[in-house]
Amino acid sequence: MIHLEQTFMNFLLAHQEKYNRTYHFLILMDSLISAAKHIQHYYLTGALKGILGLANKINVQGEDVMRMDQIAHEIAIHYLKTTNRVIHAVSEEEDDIIPLNEEGGRYFIYFDPLDGSSNVAHGLPVGFLFGIAKRNLEGPEDGHLRAGKDYIAAGMFVIPTGTFTLALKEAGTWRFHINDTMNYVMPVRMMLPEDKKTWELSFNAANQTTYAKGVQDWISANVGKYSYRYLGALAGDFHRTLSNGGMFMYPAIVNHPNPKKNRPEGKLRLMYEASVVAFMSKEAGGGAVDENGTPILDIVPSKHHQRTALYVGSKPLVDEIAQVLRNR
Ligand code: AHG
Ligand code: MN
Ligand code: MN
Repeated sequence: MIHLEQTFMNFLLAHQEKYNRTYHFLILMDSLISAAKHIQHYYLTGALKGILGLANKINVQGEDVMRMDQIAHEIAIHYLKTTNRVIHAVSEEEDDIIPLNEEGGRYFIYFDPLDGSSNVAHGLPVGFLFGIAKRNLEGPEDGHLRAGKDYIAAGMFVIPTGTFTLALKEAGTWRFHINDTMNYVMPVRMMLPEDKKTWELSFNAANQTTYAKGVQDWISANVGKYSYRYLGALAGDFHRTLSNGGMFMYPAIVNHPNPKKNRPEGKLRLMYEASVVAFMSKEAGGGAVDENGTPILDIVPSKHHQRTALYVGSKPLVDEIAQVLRNR
């Protein structure tokens, strides 16, 4: 007998039936899976074969010169559009909201089609991150500047590693791996480990002296207790955090020797980076806060490309840093 595994679509169908949900979400997720596989294919045939090169450029049919980020964006929009289920999309790659199906669409989607672009030239992991909110089907439309707590799902593909992590509202965070037939298979429920032995801290150590004093002090007091890992691509770094526990941080930069380089608002984007990992963290028993110690999932954005500082991972560590941040 050959061994056959449960696919992501089997898993999702069972989930939708269990919770008495519609098939529309299946169609949306199917399009994201197709987009991720397509981006993965481009990445493997372009980046790893050197077509993208150091300049992170690709020559399509000898005509347009495109960045991998732009290619990933176009692939994602193509598949999302064909679902006829998405009202508006927000992409890191486009300033404006992208209308897709304003009449019949049910979902808003916020995504970063290729995060961690400095890894592209090296063929190292990048991420495709997304958050999904649902249209208000009864009553007036309430727009799409949604706090993370109003998302119904959020997830990330690590490309080209081939892992996919998805959190479903009040139904947990799940991880899948791509197999030889390009199917995401073998759902595993993710819970942040309580045992501190495996915990890791993840932040750009080169920025450490630019953080707020309290954050620097907390790091100095804690860095020796845990291992330290930093890939420079949120999806890959948070993948580790979720498996091993600990905390990923991208604090505000407030003490840069060149004040013009300060980033008091943080670097990461709220809607398609921070809220996405915060949602996955929550469903895996963890937390996430911003520079004020405010839960990331409570922040209602005032613009789509809003930035935020981010501290995400094991609850005891996030609670500890939140305390420091609130008491400044
Ligand atoms: P981008 O959206 O420009 O690809 O940025 C990547 C993000 C995120 O993936 C990563 O965690 C962080 O920026 C890395 O930033 P530093 O290089 O400043 O450490
Ligand atoms: Mn990007
Ligand atoms: Mn990004």
